[in-house]
Amino acid sequence: MPPAVRTFDAALLAWYAREARDLPWRRTRDPYAILVSEVMLQQTQVARVIPRWLAWLERWPDAPALAAAPIADVLGEWVGLGYNRRALRLREACAHVAEHGWPDDLRELPGIGPYTAAAVGAFAFGRDELPVDTNVRRVLERTAFEPDATPPDLGQALMELGATVCRAREAACGACPVAGHCASAHAVVIPARGSGARRERFEDSNRYVRGRVIEALASGTDLPDGIELERLERAIASLVADGLVRREGDVLSLPA
Ligand code: ADE
Repeated sequence: MPPAVRTFDAALLAWYAREARDLPWRRTRDPYAILVSEVMLQQTQVARVIPRWLAWLERWPDAPALAAAPIADVLGEWVGLGYNRRALRLREACAHVAEHGWPDDLRELPGIGPYTAAAVGAFAFGRDELPVDTNVRRVLERTAFEPDATPPDLGQALMELGATVCRAREAACGACPVAGHCASAHAVVIPARGSGARRERFEDSNRYVRGRVIEALASGTDLPDGIELERLERAIASLVADGLVRREGDVLSLPA
């Protein structure tokens, strides 16, 4: 008898079981810990998230602890992880959980969209939901795979494949466990890079300057040196507009 041909799902899941990176949030089913990881991973790379996630959980080990934390502490701990509003929404979601428990429909939590709800649903509560982030969407589009069942590990496996093999700019089809089932194997079209405009240095970005301002306010130190006044003003104005910083004359403070 010829060997059985593995389906896409079986080949992918077997590869994931063998090759998956040992990421700390994959060792827990705690919905709070998984929620924190998913929110952090929305704009920051895995390698940078790992130590921040570990420190966060050490400081605030559960939803009630985070809900009770002062905003300045939460923003201070979030520095460098991107949009500060996400940290505040995470704290609000935890306040909801501390008061009412986890809702059946996780999208009822403030700031939790369909992706995050599906990720927590699958990875913490073991539900058959597929969180579709950019990696997963790219893999599904390239392969033309249409899952008819979505066990919790399938999402992790698709994410892992997108992050490590079926990458946006370098598809390693030779190393891919599902190349035999893939509509674009060895023929992936890599999208052209932007318009050719020079990429801004991170240190010049509004995100970076906003982070430095929040850091200074959270730790009670001076505003950062070495940043052009105009950039600093722009960052402060955007923080004030977002309700993350209060300004009275020249005095800045964090919201209570
Ligand atoms: N990116 C978003 N969620 C992730 C997860 N659970 N593991 C690895 N990368 C991710």
